[in-house]
Amino acid sequence: MVLALALLAGLAYWLLVITEGVYLGRRFVVWMYDLTAHQYDGIKKYDAETETLFVVRPFLSRLAHLSTPLILDVATGTGRVPWFTLQMPRFHGRFVALEPSQKMLALAAKRLAGYGWRASAVQATAVPLPFAAHSFDAISCLEALEFFPSDEAALREMARVLRPGGVLMVTRRRGWEAKTFFGRYRDAARFTVLLQSVGFTQVEGRAWQVDYDLFFAQKGSKNGSGETRGKRGTKS
Ligand SMILES: C[S@@+](CC[C@H](N)C(=O)[O-])C[C@H]1O[C@@H](n2cnc3c(N)ncnc32)[C@H](O)[C@@H]1O
Repeated sequence: MVLALALLAGLAYWLLVITEGVYLGRRFVVWMYDLTAHQYDGIKKYDAETETLFVVRPFLSRLAHLSTPLILDVATGTGRVPWFTLQMPRFHGRFVALEPSQKMLALAAKRLAGYGWRASAVQATAVPLPFAAHSFDAISCLEALEFFPSDEAALREMARVLRPGGVLMVTRRRGWEAKTFFGRYRDAARFTVLLQSVGFTQVEGRAWQVDYDLFFAQKGSKNGSGETRGKRGTKS
């Protein structure tokens, strides 16, 4: 009896806490985020210095050739990436913050409201992305891919809406918990192959946090140069 209860508790912990309901379907994951949105920032406790150093600067350094990049943050949560990036005095670009959880998105929208037209909030899932092909100069997607129904489908969508030469910043779940995402876990080598298979080049991954690697990649351009060729916002 005790053993059965312990097993049940372990299963519930894995299903609801470690894998955040991903084996119960997309709607369940989003519902869980709606339920816990008010606690999210208190749990994460992101600090500006660390975010700037390890996320924002490496991301923006890959966009330095653009004066006003248009960036999509997929699964923005409470607006982490746009919030810390828009605070950079030298950043003059714009963000679209995309998130399916209404409660998470409301917190993001509130936080970003002061940036007016430079930050907009869109309620949607990662597949399909509600944008035309080649709409964005860059896409970020942090700590979220492993909770989507299909990481491959989501990365394909990101590749579609990125302009040729556009920059992707994305995380790969690592550590022992990652290995309990049965049938979904990818080691760094397999994650690199996945990125390449959906059209990304110059893939570069690095250890970032205990639970995550941070990956950067570029959408291959038709001529294979990896350069952004659009006119919008290109520095002369
Ligand atoms: C751990 S949070 C990460 C939020 C934010 N990127 C950050 O780093 O703080 C994961 C987010 O993914 C979102 N999410 C879950 N399923 C999704 C899906 N199918 N499409 C897009 N976002 C999804 C959740 O609502 C949640 O806000």
